[in-house]
Amino acid sequence: EKEKGLIRDSWESLGKNKVPHGIVMFTRLFELDPALLTLFSYSTNCGVAPECLSSPEFLDHVTKVMLVIDAAVSHLDDLHTLEDFLLNLGRKHQAVGVKPQSFAVVGESLLYMLQSSLGPAYTTPLRQAWLNMYSIVVSAMTRGWAK
Ligand code: HEM
Repeated sequence: EKEKGLIRDSWESLGKNKVPHGIVMFTRLFELDPALLTLFSYSTNCGVAPECLSSPEFLDHVTKVMLVIDAAVSHLDDLHTLEDFLLNLGRKHQAVGVKPQSFAVVGESLLYMLQSSLGPAYTTPLRQAWLNMYSIVVSAMTRGWAK
């Protein structure tokens, strides 16, 4: 319960518009693993991440990612209700060539974003709380790769 409070409060403190935070997260992601950029069909004529991330399609994906995280935060008490949605979301990512292993670096990028946005409010218990929630989301999405 304490963990849920940490997650809810910190997510809320990022403000209503989560897109800028999503941009920080995905800029970090492409820095850590530039190959992921190539999985976006619309990344063809942009080599450098900052340019890519300002294109409408990328902003669209970032917005969608933030909405999924927002849904998870809103459903901390009943995350299982998102299971089917997340499994299907996993399937869609399998179809575009994402490997489940890449979710580790996505998680790192999420923590990086939280750390840079929250500053001193980013504590060890907070980090752990987010990791726990993230691992539930990832394991649900990863079921989408099962045959
Ligand atoms: C769709 C790539 C991580 C949520 C897509 C698409 C691509 C993609 C290529 C289809 C085109 C588009 O809609 O823009 C990736 C890559 C990721 C990643 C390379 C990192 C390895 C995530 C994460 C989430 C997410 C972590 C949320 C937790 C979504 C959603 C859609 C989507 C909601 C739309 C699915 C639909 O059409 O119903 N992603 N994605 N993605 N992605 Fe991701």
